[in-house]
Amino acid sequence: MKARMKTTARPRRIVVANWKMNPNTLPEAKKLFLESKKEAVRQKKVQTIIAVPFVYFAALRTLMTGSRTKLGAQNVSWWKDGTHTGEISAAMLINLGVSHVIVGHSERRALGENNEHVSRKVSAALKEGLVVILCVGEVVRDTGGYYLSIIETQLRTACAVVPKAMLKSLIIAYEPVWAISEGAGDGQTATPDDIHEMTIFIRKILTNIYNRPSAERIPVLYGGSVNEENASVLTQNGMVDGFLVGGASLQPHVFGAILTAANVFKNESRT
Ligand code: PGA
Repeated sequence: MKARMKTTARPRRIVVANWKMNPNTLPEAKKLFLESKKEAVRQKKVQTIIAVPFVYFAALRTLMTGSRTKLGAQNVSWWKDGTHTGEISAAMLINLGVSHVIVGHSERRALGENNEHVSRKVSAALKEGLVVILCVGEVVRDTGGYYLSIIETQLRTACAVVPKAMLKSLIIAYEPVWAISEGAGDGQTATPDDIHEMTIFIRKILTNIYNRPSAERIPVLYGGSVNEENASVLTQNGMVDGFLVGGASLQPHVFGAILTAANVFKNESRT
């Protein structure tokens, strides 16, 4: 694989807080949101997106100020409207002040969502004006390199519904499932080298699908056990444009440390 050519760094990093199914009460959600927002406003070079459970949007949007923090959803229906019990449409999200949506998270794929479902959701979200955070990632890293073809298929299926003109509304999040929540107890985490190699691979596929300048502009984030200790080295040596943060986003001081690490641009050349 070829290293990335010298490019101008994007002006901002992107950090997404994925609260998953937390917290249990609205007062807790408000407190967590306000504390996270306080951390986020300090970081000029970071766009922070807080992806919260659907039930909190109406209340949290009233606490939004400025543009450094945005509201995100963790899922969206591929249907526009109609008889679909329990589903939430992209239009409903937009009308509640949501700007971003996570699509294809591995925890949803584990519930049966496949690449076809993911591409339908990507299409529905983009058409309504949401920015899509598309999650890709392998469940295991086999020694034969089959995991690369899994990522390629995930990217190609989803990008098939994303015309070049809509790329400004696409963010890729590479989340190796084996590294999420520290490998769900196994203590496994991805190294900066693992992540750097994968960001190069992802950009190679995106270049093949679109072209090099377009591929270079698509932000590639990393997610999987990001914390206050590894955020800095992952930012600098993993060559990522930001993070998708699960567990650590529930602790504002830890989340703040991650945002601080993401705010530092040392390697402007990104070779
Ligand atoms: P984690 O989760 O940071 O707790 O590993 C990341 C994610 O699943 O988005």
